[in-house]
Amino acid sequence: MALFGDATVADPYRVFGELRERDPVHWSDEVDAWVLTRFADVRAVLHDQRFSSRVLDATPHASAAGPSGPAAGTRTSRVLAGAYTFVNNSLVFSDPPQHTRLRRLVGQAFVPAAVDALAPAVEHHTRRLLDAAGPRFDVVADLAEPLPIAVLGELLGVPLLDGDAHRLKTACDDFLLPWGRDVSSLSEDENDRAVAASGALGAFVETVLTQRGDAAPDDVVGRLLAGETDEQLTHEELFATIVLLLIAGHENLTSMLGNGVLWLLDLPELRARLRDEPDRWAAVTDELLRLITPNQFIRRVAREDVTLGGRSIRAGDATVLVLAAANRDPQHFPDPDQFVLDRTERRDVALGQGPHYCLGAPLARLETRIALRELLERHPSLTIAGPPSYAANLNLRLLTALPVSSSPE
Ligand code: HEM
Repeated sequence: MALFGDATVADPYRVFGELRERDPVHWSDEVDAWVLTRFADVRAVLHDQRFSSRVLDATPHASAAGPSGPAAGTRTSRVLAGAYTFVNNSLVFSDPPQHTRLRRLVGQAFVPAAVDALAPAVEHHTRRLLDAAGPRFDVVADLAEPLPIAVLGELLGVPLLDGDAHRLKTACDDFLLPWGRDVSSLSEDENDRAVAASGALGAFVETVLTQRGDAAPDDVVGRLLAGETDEQLTHEELFATIVLLLIAGHENLTSMLGNGVLWLLDLPELRARLRDEPDRWAAVTDELLRLITPNQFIRRVAREDVTLGGRSIRAGDATVLVLAAANRDPQHFPDPDQFVLDRTERRDVALGQGPHYCLGAPLARLETRIALRELLERHPSLTIAGPPSYAANLNLRLLTALPVSSSPE
């Protein structure tokens, strides 16, 4: 059975869970990679410097444009230029010492005070969106998609309206079109979209930077621009960082909010308990993160030969770390498929672990907690009003529609 097909979109936790029982360190010809599903193995790789995050080869010879790479000025070179800049200067695709430096500089921006300062804005946008939604609405279109983009606007210091969510999402999707593809196989339309997306994101980043000027205040972008050491981020690194925040801080929150609502609608006793114990929302958020694991898998490449679970992983082999399967490993989490508010073991891998642990984790938690709490406080009798649907997206557990309605209790 295909591991990365329709059955997995329908129920990834079951498909990857069966693989975890059968062959936890599994070679897959389908994705040309080792697929790891046990918690212990996934955690070990996340902390193991013998595995690299340079999973996208952005050296000039990497495309199918020829061994010497695409000639400057050709259509292919234009398609790849923005993407090369992004990958080669991006935290998430870098290893030490580059990663250590970038993480230190970008990490200074995500200090708790800067993230906590976003709480009123998250509340404001959640309430604004719920006001507009009325008693019958679609959780995805009316809240889970527009909220993260509005919050990113606050984070970056440029107003992003609801219509911008679609425009920026399209730009991010099109920007990533060349990756994992033979560039020469891109259609004319795909080439044009990738070039346009690169231009649109470049223009967006310039807007962010110029609107801020030199007198950067004490928020996330202000801190990014100022740097707090004598070392500064280069312009390419700022571009890559802002694009990464747009990509990383958007759709996985859409996934988290949509699936979070779906879980909570199924747990009436928990909802009742939360009315009396609102301080438990932080624990609810953590347990939902574990169960949903929006970012279902991430990748690493072995830098040297490694033995794992009795298998020999060779230098250069790709690995797929199935976070969603690790987070439901019964060896690590008793009753892994159940929502258990008072779990003693909390250290999951939904936001990664080790050096690349999600930089936006405090914001992801803050936004989830506030949005779900506001939604259920406003609509205590919320019910599903139609079938939920999922995107054919294996990497993200992404709902495309979740119709709900609220009636007086
Ligand atoms: C529920 C929401 C989120 C989920 C599930 C999530 C998940 C993850 C995961 C699994 C990683 C580790 C990647 C790896 O090890 O290769 C990661 C890294 C990262 N995330 Fe998040 N994330 C979320 C929200 C956010 C937000 C809101 C932001 C910022 C606005 C953000 C920014 C980042 C960045 C910059 C990294 C790279 C860190 C590094 O490589 O050092 N994420 N995220």
